[in-house]
Amino acid sequence: MELKIIDERDISKLRGDALVVGAYEGNRFTEMAKAVDVVMGRLLTALAKDLDFKAKLGDTIYIPSHGKKLKVKNVILVGLGKKKKLDEDGIRKAIFSSLKKAKEIRARDIFFEPLGEGVLGGRCTKAMAEGALLGDYEFRKYKKDNEKIDIESVSILADKSREGLLKLGKVLGEVTNFTRDIVNEPGNAITPNELARIAKELSKEYGFECTVYGLEEIIKNKMNGILAVGQGSKNPPTFTHIAYRPEGAKSKVVIIGKGITFDSGGLNIKPERSMKTMKCDKSGACAVLGIMRAIGEIRPEVEVHGLMPCAENMPSGEAFRPDDIITFANGKSVEIHSTDAEGRLILADALIYGSRIRPDIMIDMATLTGACVVALGSYTTGLFSNDDNLARDLLNLSIKTGEKMWRLPLDEDLRDEIKGDYSDIKNVGSRYGGAITAGLFLKEFVGKDIRSWAHLDIAGPAFLEKPWKYYAKGATGVPVRTVVELILNLNVG
Ligand code: BES
Ligand code: MN
Ligand code: ZN
Repeated sequence: MELKIIDERDISKLRGDALVVGAYEGNRFTEMAKAVDVVMGRLLTALAKDLDFKAKLGDTIYIPSHGKKLKVKNVILVGLGKKKKLDEDGIRKAIFSSLKKAKEIRARDIFFEPLGEGVLGGRCTKAMAEGALLGDYEFRKYKKDNEKIDIESVSILADKSREGLLKLGKVLGEVTNFTRDIVNEPGNAITPNELARIAKELSKEYGFECTVYGLEEIIKNKMNGILAVGQGSKNPPTFTHIAYRPEGAKSKVVIIGKGITFDSGGLNIKPERSMKTMKCDKSGACAVLGIMRAIGEIRPEVEVHGLMPCAENMPSGEAFRPDDIITFANGKSVEIHSTDAEGRLILADALIYGSRIRPDIMIDMATLTGACVVALGSYTTGLFSNDDNLARDLLNLSIKTGEKMWRLPLDEDLRDEIKGDYSDIKNVGSRYGGAITAGLFLKEFVGKDIRSWAHLDIAGPAFLEKPWKYYAKGATGVPVRTVVELILNLNVG
């Protein structure tokens, strides 16, 4: 799909399959919708009335123009909801439904007025690009039938000064879809080695440094969490460090992503219904790849390190076991109470390693706990942080990106739950507050001098059982866009 801006407001000059214009609730047409309506002899008004079109966000109606007065073949009217309530995510939803309607009528090249520009200004162009790309995504690699209808071009009728924001939206949409493509691949296609290979390839493309630690280096560096979790699989674990170090960088960020290429639960094997979809347990590591790709495209003056601890959690004669005690590079010993609480073990190694880079901000992303999904539902990321400012920034951005987040406490009163019987700590707490005790576990491995750390539990929103908003079923690429925007804001200072 080609996305572009064309500097044209004269609707009679447009030649193509469809023109999309907007209306706010109460059938308040935008200026361009009014102009279309006038040219068509008020047909749009009449049809809206006949079809009981209320201009609710994402509602659409269409009308063929039959070449009368307009050269564009169809007009699609899209609801933008209440004008006061329209936000960036509303724009994404609106362009997604418009394109869905366009596909229904087999329209391929489509013009859009800049939806919501009057309310949101230039960022609406960015949101339109994101909505178009995210909404068009499907994972079809393994399907032979090619029934997907392709939109050829989306042209936004806007000022050329919006070019930069369109480009940003394109990058964010594309890297998110890149992330989704890797998450959606099954465990037989994506192994820890394969994730490392993708990191290398990407690093070559953008001139990043890239170090891959294989089994030997993992042992040498005392990454004993990754080692334990990976030892039951015939696909060996990897730890990958991607580094982008621009000259004159103002700040340093470390991002970490959980990369369990398949989570069977290990010897504490998962029941059938929870094991299916556990290819999604590498979503954090894939988010690292997507974020690094965005950084490579945009090249901000911020040093960014991407860390990907990767392993496959499998039961076997060589698998780690309940009762095993693992000692980490920071000296802490951990007794295994469940081999299914494996994410925190591989993240522990990465948090120790990341802390040594001495970043200003460290963020980990992980499909970490079912408890987080119980607490917040399938669509919201659990946010934990030792820094109120970072938490606030992430929450504010998450509202704009539509990647919903909600802060949960790192409640020190629950710290006792992970006290070890025969070791410093154990890898699970009680049934209560499972997302929080997982966060408290991670905190044990964050260096004391790291003032600004956030843990994002994406177990719910990373992977969907059914379509939601502009997302198809499967991987969403959450929280790539929010973290990229956070890093870009550091660039501005
Ligand atoms: N990968 C899972 C968490 C998960 C659950 C991700 C649902 C995506 C959707 C994680 O490794 C896990 O198994 N967690 C256990 C922890 C428990 C053993 C303390 C869980 O949530 O049940
Ligand atoms: Mn698990
Ligand atoms: Zn897991």
